[in-house]
Amino acid sequence: MGTEHRKNREYEKGPHLILIGFMGSGKTSIGRSLSYKLRRSFYDTDRMIEEKEKMSISEIFDKKGEKAFRVMETDVLRRIREDRSPAIYSLGGGTPVQLQNQPLIKTCGTVVYLRITPEEVYERLKNDTTRPLLRSADPLTRIRTLMKGRLPAYERCADLIVDTGSCSRDKVMEDILEGLRALGWDIPVDDKTDRLNEEEK
Ligand code: S3P
Repeated sequence: MGTEHRKNREYEKGPHLILIGFMGSGKTSIGRSLSYKLRRSFYDTDRMIEEKEKMSISEIFDKKGEKAFRVMETDVLRRIREDRSPAIYSLGGGTPVQLQNQPLIKTCGTVVYLRITPEEVYERLKNDTTRPLLRSADPLTRIRTLMKGRLPAYERCADLIVDTGSCSRDKVMEDILEGLRALGWDIPVDDKTDRLNEEEK
């Protein structure tokens, strides 16, 4: 548990910070906090797809099917790779699973995997109705099965792994910033939380 650094140096990295992880791992909320801290624009790829298609993710699944949605995800990754202005992108939980997406993700930038357990996902999303893949009579079993199949993909893409489920947003932010510094990112220590964290060492 905690933070892990991965060796992913075989890829030429783009300028972006890419957040991956299972549904409910906090990619969007952490992405917004990182956007403020790093003074970079933040984009959620699900919202990019919804804007382009003028439909919600649930409607896309219902009307066009999951297969069509997966093609849209790959198209978005190609657009991100062309964007040279450093930004933060949060990817849908299933995006890293398709094999052809993995080199694309790695070349977009530094990849942070927000790790969470199936039980924590269940607690966070048990009243959520916006995730078509969790429409199930037994959502916890569904989450466990999906997660088991996806873990290798998340780990393969990640430069940095940070546990999120039982941690506060501040703690997750601290772990990410510390991990990015260890990967060579120049991030000033300029707010109170960060300063306290540095003094504790
Ligand atoms: C999906 C995750 C969702 C969204 C879609 C499919 C998945 O994104 O892309 O419902 O396959 O895990 P979040 O991870 O942002 O919830």
